[in-house]
Amino acid sequence: MSVAVETNRQERFQETADYAQFKARILARTGIDLNLYKQQQMHRRLLGLLERARVPDFTAYYQLLERDPREYAIFLDRLTINVSELFRNPEKWEELRRHILPGMLARKRNLKVWSAGCSYGAEPYTLAILLDQVAPNRSHVIHATDLDRNILAKAKEGKFTRADVKNLDAATLERYFVPLETGRSTASLTDVAPAYQIKSEIRDRVTFRAHNLLADPFESDYDLICCRNVVIYFTDAAKEKLYVQFYRALAPGGVLFVGGTERIFQYQEIGFTSPLPFFYQRKA
Ligand SMILES: C[S@@+](CC[C@H](N)C(=O)[O-])C[C@H]1O[C@@H](n2cnc3c(N)ncnc32)[C@H](O)[C@@H]1O
Repeated sequence: MSVAVETNRQERFQETADYAQFKARILARTGIDLNLYKQQQMHRRLLGLLERARVPDFTAYYQLLERDPREYAIFLDRLTINVSELFRNPEKWEELRRHILPGMLARKRNLKVWSAGCSYGAEPYTLAILLDQVAPNRSHVIHATDLDRNILAKAKEGKFTRADVKNLDAATLERYFVPLETGRSTASLTDVAPAYQIKSEIRDRVTFRAHNLLADPFESDYDLICCRNVVIYFTDAAKEKLYVQFYRALAPGGVLFVGGTERIFQYQEIGFTSPLPFFYQRKA
C-alpha cells in the first residue's frame, strides 16, 4: 500500500506503509521526526542504507537498528550530513565582522551567541575566534548544539583537517591552533587526517550540548544565532516554524545569520528586518 504525502509545496511523494511505520518508530525511539525533513531526499538516502545493509524493507531495517548499535550509528550519520569548515563562506563572516558585530558590541559588552547545527565545531570555533579578534578580554557566551551526539564528541576535541582551515591566513592559524604531529609531515597526509587542534583557551569558551531544533525548547536572549546549512534538509513548514522560534530566542536587536542558500523570504511577516542578505535582525 502507498499513500501520497504532501511534503513541500512542490513535492508529492508516494509513501509505503513500512516506511510510514518506520518513521513513527524512529520518532517514538529518538524524538527525531523524519516527516519534518524533505521527504524525497530523506527517503532516497535511507533506501541507500537499506541496500547497504542488505535488508528487504523498512520493517527489517528497523529491527536491524534495534539490535545493532553500529548500524544505528551509521543511520544517524547518514541522517545528519556533517560537512563544515572554519569561516565557511568567508565573505559572509567578513560582513558579520565589519557590519553587524561593531554595533552589537557597542551596545553590549558580553554577547550571548548560538551556533545551531554546529556539526564538528568549525562554526562555533569560528565565532570564538572572531569574537576574540574583534572584542578580546570579554566574557562572551558561546553555545553550540547539534542533533548528533557523536559529532558533538568530535567537536569538543576541536581537531581539524587542512581542508577545514583553508580559509584562515597563516597568522590566524598560528595564533589559534596547535599543529598536530600528523600535520607536520606531508608525506602520508590526506585531507581527512586532523592536522590542527584549536588552542584550549578558545576551545574552553564554547559550550556544546545535544539539541534537536525540530523538537527541543530554545533558550532566549541571544544576540546572535548562526544556523547555516542545516535547514536545507527541512520541509518548508518546519523551516517557517523554526524561524519564528529563532525570532523569539533573540534578544531585541539580535541577529539571525543563515546559510548562503537559505534566504528567508517572509522575514518581514515574522518581524525581522534584514540589514544585509542572509542576516535577519529582531527589532530593538
Ligand atoms: C551541513 S552541517 C552544517 C554545519 C555548520 N552549521 C556549517 O554551516 O558549516 C548540518 C548539521 O545539522 C545537524 N542537524 C540536522 N538536523 C538537525 C536537527 N533537527 N537539530 C539540530 N541539528 C540538526 C546535523 O547533525 C549536521 O551536523
